[in-house]
Amino acid sequence: MSVTTVTAEPGHTEGLGDESSIWFKLSALQRGNEHNPMQTLMQLADRYGGVIPVNMGNQRVVFVTEPDHFKRVLVTKVDDYVKYFDGLKPIFGKSMITHDGALWQKIRMPQQPAFHPDMFAEYIPYFLTAIRAKMDLWAGLAKSGESFEMVEQTWTLAADMICKALFDRDMPFNPHVVFKCVKTYTDVMNHKAVRLKMVHGDGGEFELTEDDTAKAMAIWAGVPPDVMAADPNEGRERTLLTMIEAAVADPAIPEFDRQQAIDEIKQYLWAGTETTALTLAWALYEASKNPEIADRIRREGEQVYGDRDPTAADYGALAYTRAVIQETMRIYPPIWGLIRVATKDDEIGGKPIKVGDRVVLFAYGTHHSAKYWEDPEAFKPERFMGEAAKKRKPYTYIPLGGGKRSCIGGAMSQVENTLAISILLRRFRPEYVGVEPPGINATVTLTPKGGLQFKVHELG
Ligand code: HEM
Repeated sequence: MSVTTVTAEPGHTEGLGDESSIWFKLSALQRGNEHNPMQTLMQLADRYGGVIPVNMGNQRVVFVTEPDHFKRVLVTKVDDYVKYFDGLKPIFGKSMITHDGALWQKIRMPQQPAFHPDMFAEYIPYFLTAIRAKMDLWAGLAKSGESFEMVEQTWTLAADMICKALFDRDMPFNPHVVFKCVKTYTDVMNHKAVRLKMVHGDGGEFELTEDDTAKAMAIWAGVPPDVMAADPNEGRERTLLTMIEAAVADPAIPEFDRQQAIDEIKQYLWAGTETTALTLAWALYEASKNPEIADRIRREGEQVYGDRDPTAADYGALAYTRAVIQETMRIYPPIWGLIRVATKDDEIGGKPIKVGDRVVLFAYGTHHSAKYWEDPEAFKPERFMGEAAKKRKPYTYIPLGGGKRSCIGGAMSQVENTLAISILLRRFRPEYVGVEPPGINATVTLTPKGGLQFKVHELG
């Protein structure tokens, strides 16, 4: 069954954020509620049940919204649904996140030990160094009273944490410049969406050119070689970077060449920063709007680690603060939809899936469904604590994906964000000063439209 037909502008040249890319096509589907485009998809999901086939030009995109469907695609039939990354090659190259099957496994295996929970205790001191540097910067912002954009702040923090903990390096690049490069790339998709709108007579103007994106991607491509060439901070033997270097030197994995290493670093500097940064920024927004949540986070920090540095054991005891991060990923899942391509005919929820169909696992829809969450729009961290958490139906919460392709760094990102929000809130009161409520932009990730504008105040 087809419910909508969207025809992209024909004959546009291949390129970044190209119109043939599903990311671009999805932006057209999301029109109708510019403030929160997810609402349009939610309405479609309500109207047509858990499986919604949509014809987009010559391509069929099937939205699935039920936990059982997620399990089928991510676990039961995982090998029949492959990754979809068109339009994102400049960001990810040929890194493992883009591969399937035996090659994916070969590339993931040598890197997996870097993300074992046993490593977190080793990483925490580096996370703390990065958080302290951010606090020094915020002290200046608090003094001057100037406002700033929070996602840029949390992105630079996440990038610093990854470089220090996983690569044993200080960032050998200007993180603000690199952040803007990545944004330029994703903005281009929006600008092409604007162009499509113009074709449809909705108005709008280009602000960026293909040249801007080419320049941005050239800077981005230069980052991994700079990371590899930079001096190590301490010469630690067991880091993600040394594991990647060992894989390059291992004749048993000829596919893991120098270009693979470069692309893996690229992948971590996007997948491990954008998502972590968005989560922390949205969590700080919620803490700013709900002072009782911020106070409870502060009290928990005082009780658990007091005036000393938090340890891995303390992280385990920060149950409420961790639940704040988990609830943030429910309400604002950075990866709002996981995309796959069907390699075999199948049936989901009684509806046929054909080879070549793009299947979108609509995580945001399920995270906001009243069928699975009581009062789904309310921010309630308690859902992730104690008995309430145990009662949750599997696959109703998939911010980190699921099955064998689930996020390699998800558990580590929760350590980073739980410690960051705990420590930052004990010294500062972040005040959200942007438009209320913030608008949502849904491209590859779910981002606040125009960012999240904040001021910070030092607590007495
Ligand atoms: C809040 C933080 C994060 C969120 C919400 C998140 C989300 C996700 C999701 C949903 C996937 C699966 C995508 C799919 O199946 O199509 C994924 C995969 C991945 N993530 Fe994360 N991620 C986070 C943090 C991190 C961190 C900190 C790292 C590394 C430093 C990381 C590295 C990766 C990699 C390499 C993959 C691909 C794994 C594979 O294909 O085997 N992520 N992430």
